[in-house]
Amino acid sequence: MKISDADRDPSSIKKDNIDTIKIVDNFFEKELFSKIQNHISTKIYYTPAYFTGTTEKTKENYYGDRWLFVNDKKFLKLFVDQVAKKFKIKPKTICFTSAIDLRNLDHFKPHTDSGVAKINILIMLKGPSAVTNGTVFYTDKELDIHVGFKENRAVLFPSARFHSQHASKIPNLKRYTATIFIQDYEEEC
Ligand SMILES: [Fe+2]
Repeated sequence: MKISDADRDPSSIKKDNIDTIKIVDNFFEKELFSKIQNHISTKIYYTPAYFTGTTEKTKENYYGDRWLFVNDKKFLKLFVDQVAKKFKIKPKTICFTSAIDLRNLDHFKPHTDSGVAKINILIMLKGPSAVTNGTVFYTDKELDIHVGFKENRAVLFPSARFHSQHASKIPNLKRYTATIFIQDYEEEC
């Protein structure tokens, strides 16, 4: 597995073969998951991040506070190994923007990540369980599928699928998630 220091190769954008959304609960084994939760909430530092392609540091462009996995490749390996095991794929290239995000969700921002990766893996790490605190997916520009937030839940989806964090009116509602952007992978038989 290598970490790419660039966005996705545009010539590969039409060649994706995974086109479904897959959900796995109890992604990490319990004890390891507690250690990960402790690590991400007490040991790492987050800095403000903005959506790719935006230049102004406005509320609309603000993505959340972010810590990049390139800062600790051993920690990244824990995640990538589990992705391989649970989703039965062999990740080959991971985008350098793969990260842990700490977000206060107050607005919807539908977007794709097709310029970054082929598939996204979203892992819900820490935060209140709620159907209004998860991720939503769009079909033909209409809100379609809603995955509620649940700690230790992982979601695989094609990066080209329109998606958004779910907005909530509850002040200071925060959640920690990991996103692994997979640019290249092999499927296991
Ligand atoms: Fe995204």
